[in-house]
Amino acid sequence: MITVESPARPNEPTGATPLVPGADKPSAISRAVQILGSGGLVSFPTETVYGLGADAQNDNALARVFSVKGRPADHPLIVHVAAPAMLEGYARDIPEAAWRLAECFWPGPLTLILKREKGVSDLVTGGQDAVGLRVPSHPLAQSLLAAFGRGIAAPSANRFGRVSPTRAAHVIQEFGDRIDYVLDGGACTVGLESTIVDLSGQRPRLLRPGAITPAALAGVLGELPQPTTASGPRVPGTLASHYAPRTPLRLVDGSRLERTIEQHSGTARSIAVMAMRDCRRNRPYLSWKTMPPTHEEYGRVLFACMREIDEEGHDCLVIERPPLTPEWEAIHDRLTRAANGES
Ligand code: TXA
Ligand code: MG
Repeated sequence: MITVESPARPNEPTGATPLVPGADKPSAISRAVQILGSGGLVSFPTETVYGLGADAQNDNALARVFSVKGRPADHPLIVHVAAPAMLEGYARDIPEAAWRLAECFWPGPLTLILKREKGVSDLVTGGQDAVGLRVPSHPLAQSLLAAFGRGIAAPSANRFGRVSPTRAAHVIQEFGDRIDYVLDGGACTVGLESTIVDLSGQRPRLLRPGAITPAALAGVLGELPQPTTASGPRVPGTLASHYAPRTPLRLVDGSRLERTIEQHSGTARSIAVMAMRDCRRNRPYLSWKTMPPTHEEYGRVLFACMREIDEEGHDCLVIERPPLTPEWEAIHDRLTRAANGES
């Protein structure tokens, strides 16, 4: 049976009422710890997206994560830990750059790929010699990790290839009672999955763009991380089609928005639009979402908008490409994958 608990007032999407560490209802955290300890699956909020958590040392629980998600076994999981000092239990030969990044960006939306310690489960690493580690900043994630005392392996709490969940209700839509517990921490404040930097090789590599930008990383590393190459470790977030809504999607430049809507209006009964401005002009067959103008706010609501559009049920979704400046990189990455090259 799935149970949802809100240990404290949920965050509002704006993050205007942040959860205060220590204000959580302790019984929800202890229940979650108990379930994790006995091999159960607990979904918990992070500042990026909701995770589907399992004890990183329990192979049965880890196997359940893969089966519930429908995720191929060779796609590794991120281990979430309470504090940077815990890296040493999971990684070896930790480069100095890792400590510097941890100091600047943890707790926060950054995942580091490091050489694995011997004891780390092959289910976590997908059989690779590297492990992904992250210290999330969401107060509920922090409380859970502190109370659990060891690593929680957690992919995003969505079925493989689908849009990541940014609210507890999304997790329930995805899994229903196939998981054991959901900690409700309200809407995630970042809304896009963490930036992933691989420090297990000669040079730092960016495996997935996120809220921590290449420029911010370069400020600490002294060099820009290398872009991902096809031969690197398997990362589902780098598949051409990922994060996809069910509604057929067209991603177009602002200059082609009206023409694309016109093209579809002949055959489609209803068209959803996610645009940077409001030009719906009394067309009842359009369901129009005017998207926020800043990349932070846009990232926060992007996945929730896609889910809402799927729920409403439209014949197609037309998305206007947001500005092409560097701070929008992670959003372009997710939009392009969602559109799967159909732009
Ligand atoms: O923001 C996030 O990172 C969220 C929250 C829950 O922490 N988690 C998340 O997990 O997005 P997931 O599994 O959906 O995506 C993690 C990505 C995957 O693409 C996985 O392949 C990659 O991280 N990854 C994990 N461990 C890795 C490793 N050892 N080597 C290379 N890639 C790895
Ligand atoms: Mg994912």
